[in-house]
Amino acid sequence: MLMTEGLVVRYPKSKENAIDQLNLTLEKGEFVCVLGKSGAGKSTFIRSINRLQLSTSGLINWEGTDLTKLSEGKMRHIRSEMVMIFQHFNLIPRMTVFQNTLTGAFGRRPSYKNLLGIFSEEEKQRGYLALEEVGLAKYADKRVEALSGGQKQRVGIARALLQDPKLLLGDEPVASLDPSTSRRIFQLMKRIHEERGLLSIINVHDVELAKEFATRIIAFRDGRLIFDGKPEEVDERMFAKIYQ
Ligand SMILES: Nc1ncnc2c1ncn2[C@@H]1O[C@H](COP(=O)(O)OP(=O)(O)O)[C@@H](O)[C@H]1O
Ligand SMILES: [Mg+2]
Repeated sequence: MLMTEGLVVRYPKSKENAIDQLNLTLEKGEFVCVLGKSGAGKSTFIRSINRLQLSTSGLINWEGTDLTKLSEGKMRHIRSEMVMIFQHFNLIPRMTVFQNTLTGAFGRRPSYKNLLGIFSEEEKQRGYLALEEVGLAKYADKRVEALSGGQKQRVGIARALLQDPKLLLGDEPVASLDPSTSRRIFQLMKRIHEERGLLSIINVHDVELAKEFATRIIAFRDGRLIFDGKPEEVDERMFAKIYQ
């Protein structure tokens, strides 16, 4: 379970709160899509959960631990079970699909092994299984820079699988992809979500995608939560309220 209480995020020199007094409880198994126009606070919200962005006040309770009280060292451990899928993939272009996938295991290994690229047979096996799961096994030795956008995002997802996630975060993971590829990426994320019983929280600019895949939709406007409900409750009136 993830619970925020009175969560506030304010950037230095800003007069407004990017996230303003957020009280929200999200349960394991929920596939939550986050809506809001540009600048609403979606990315700030996602990044404050895994503490890529520090909060100003309030608390973030993840499975009984208040993340706002944790040292960076302890947070590093927890962050390894929180995966993030990015809009621009955040892959290493000159490395192969397989090498990029294996970096997902880095959080739990000594850094000298990461630097030297030493992987056990078991880790390699997990890498191949993850690539099979996202349908990219035959591209394992290809450089990432040679792939299409949709294939790159599949590598991002395979890398996430190596982290053994409990929480799947996505910051506009399909914003750079065409509609049919976007849909296939959502299908893949949803399948993984269901198979592994995750909590997933995904920012998306496409309301139709959110309505098709989400079990719950939340929306921000000017840093405030203005909607929290079922996909079918996002009607024309609510759409106007979110995006006007
Ligand atoms: N690094 C930053 N420094 C200062 N202000 C920021 C920073 N990042 C975002 N903001 C501001 O915080 C608000 C929320 O931004 P963001 O979370 O990026 O919204 P969204 O992802 O919904 O487009 C906006 O007003 C934005 O200008
Ligand atoms: Mg954003």
